[in-house]
Amino acid sequence: MSTAISPTAYNYKVVRQFAIMTVVWGILGMGLGVFIASQLVWPQLNLDLPWTSFGRLRPLHTNLVIFAFGGCALFATSYYVVQRTCQTRLISDSLAAFTFWGWQAVIVGALITLPLGYTTTKEYAELEWPIAVLLAIVWVTYGVVFFGTIVKRKTKHIYVGNWFYGAFIVVTAMLHIVNHASLPVSLFKSYSAYSGATDAMIQWWYGHNAVGFFLTTGFLGMMYYFVPKQAERPIYSYRLSIVHFWALITLYIWAGPHHLHYTALPDWAQSLGMAMSIILLAPSWGGMINGMMTLSGAWHKLRTDPILRFLVVSLAFYGMSTFEGPMMAIKTVNSLSHYTDWTVGHVHAGALGWVAMISIGALYHMIPKVYGREQMHSTGLINAHFWLATIGTVLYISSMWVNGITQGLMWRAINDDGTLTYSFVEALQASHPGFIVRALGGAFFASGMLLMAYNVLRTVRASKPAEAEAAAQIAVVGAH
Ligand code: HEM
Ligand code: HEM
Repeated sequence: MSTAISPTAYNYKVVRQFAIMTVVWGILGMGLGVFIASQLVWPQLNLDLPWTSFGRLRPLHTNLVIFAFGGCALFATSYYVVQRTCQTRLISDSLAAFTFWGWQAVIVGALITLPLGYTTTKEYAELEWPIAVLLAIVWVTYGVVFFGTIVKRKTKHIYVGNWFYGAFIVVTAMLHIVNHASLPVSLFKSYSAYSGATDAMIQWWYGHNAVGFFLTTGFLGMMYYFVPKQAERPIYSYRLSIVHFWALITLYIWAGPHHLHYTALPDWAQSLGMAMSIILLAPSWGGMINGMMTLSGAWHKLRTDPILRFLVVSLAFYGMSTFEGPMMAIKTVNSLSHYTDWTVGHVHAGALGWVAMISIGALYHMIPKVYGREQMHSTGLINAHFWLATIGTVLYISSMWVNGITQGLMWRAINDDGTLTYSFVEALQASHPGFIVRALGGAFFASGMLLMAYNVLRTVRASKPAEAEAAAQIAVVGAH
């Protein structure tokens, strides 16, 4: 072990920047979620303006929560984890800073163009070509910073969390670039390079793997670092984590056609997507069990540690949504669930229960560390946030299950003479109570984020970043 102080400490600045923006975008994206949920309860909230209509704000919600909130959480934690597990500083401060400012520019681009109605119309890939090009450049730079840091690591092994982050970075680049291939006809209009069923197939190959690699694999990277850290236990099984990794990335890429059941897509492709989705249950649950079992001997900590509770409950929701997903991929089940609120409920079981809760838990663990504090300003507020988030998620998904099954059954009900039993409006009226409960659940979840913002603000105001840097320096020296 070297005794001299290393000139290289970890780059925590970029971690802090992304961490703070995760909270900011989380509040905006989820606040907008509550607003569009309220529009479905009170349509007057569309305000009779094109810019504030549900159709324009819905994609803004998905872009803000997935790419702004989720993306910033992934950038922040991956930069933190890769430095600590490789015991080396990020390969380039300026490239890392470029990814921060470039990513914020992409989000601001979305904030301006989507309400104005500029869109490719492809779900989760709505951003028009100039912004999509910037996104691709930022993402490739992210890959250079992440993998460059892995290359110059001081440790022998590459920690498993980095494998997941690495796969998420590589596959997201591939999906984004292939799905966005298009011909620009003006500054804000382009046409897809694909057409017909091919276009649909490529779009849902992208769409499902946005779920699989952006909303799942990246967050599993987070899970593999923060769950053992917070539980102060080693990961339950290193061998299982390797099997989990290879099985997950091999299978996910084939499941996209389950979004296109009963469409013009060839039948064999639909059946292949269904089969792969069912098999996907195994690696998903393998990973979930690996995370859960890491708590062996540490379960008692849940009584006093709300951060650990966030992490464990997120795993429970991950398990739940990856059980529900394969079921919904079965064609006969999908014939009931497709187009209904059941899908929306499934999405938010994953999005709120898994993605948001694991990010929130990871941030509560990480923020004090990068600000030179022992812990967050208030554990009581973390606890209150935990309950608001859990109750909010349960209200959201249970109301959507009831709505989804009601809608599916009402739409397919037929009288003896072959006419429809219910009109569409009757099914909509039956959904109204569920819309109210969903908006309430969303408000619970979003208000938890406000508590988080206050807690983070107080922690940051009492921070000693210089001490965090010094601690990082010692950690680097300790590795030699
Ligand atoms: C084994 C894992 C999973 C499988 C097999 C799966 C399967 C499915 C299926 C069958 C649908 C409905 C497609 C349709 O009828 O249109 C769906 C929709 C969706 N799922 Fe999952 N799911 C899984 C996990 C997850 C997780 C963990 C998340 C979130 C973090 C998630 C997010 C979504 C989203 C966003 C959609 C909606 C796509 C859209 O129509 O816009 N899924 N999933
Ligand atoms: C306060 C929390 C939230 C509320 C109230 C909320 C509300 C909504 C509403 C009302 C919709 C439109 C549903 C429809 O078209 O019928 C929606 C769609 C969506 N939201 Fe959220 N949301 C929240 C948080 C999140 C988060 C954190 C994520 C992701 C990390 C997310 C991802 C999505 C996605 C992917 C869709 C599209 C679903 C689909 O096409 O099936 N939401 N949300």
